[in-house]
Amino acid sequence: MSQYILPEPSRRAFLTGACALVGLSVGAVLLADDASAAPGIKRLPDGRVQVTVSKVSALAKPGGVVALGNVKGVPTAIVRTQASKYVALDLRCPHAGVTVGQDGADWLCPAHGSVFALDGALELGPATKGLSRVTSRLSNGVLTIG
Ligand code: FES
Repeated sequence: MSQYILPEPSRRAFLTGACALVGLSVGAVLLADDASAAPGIKRLPDGRVQVTVSKVSALAKPGGVVALGNVKGVPTAIVRTQASKYVALDLRCPHAGVTVGQDGADWLCPAHGSVFALDGALELGPATKGLSRVTSRLSNGVLTIG
């Protein structure tokens, strides 16, 4: 999978730390606010993000994940859960709001150890519910998130 790094220092620092904490091993696309960082991904003037899924190699097959950085202030990732199904996840842990990071086929919260399936379902507490979804819509191969 490809990896793109956004130029915004604060987001880069955050993701570097998150990756170190949870052993992030997946390719990630990190979206720059200027909407020019990653092929197939652009930020709209209203803050939503559009992803042309066929142009993002990380989404080429089920299980693929793309971290978008913040979408309207929410740390967000897209997961391809099935051949033609995607979910956009709010990466803030429902326990106390710490941003989770990918750990293999799960999301792991570095604060207190909650574990979530790749589709956001709760696997292990102390969180009592899964990751929230971010509004997303797929139309003609383009996901619009936010
Ligand atoms: S904030 Fe995630 S487990 Fe506590």
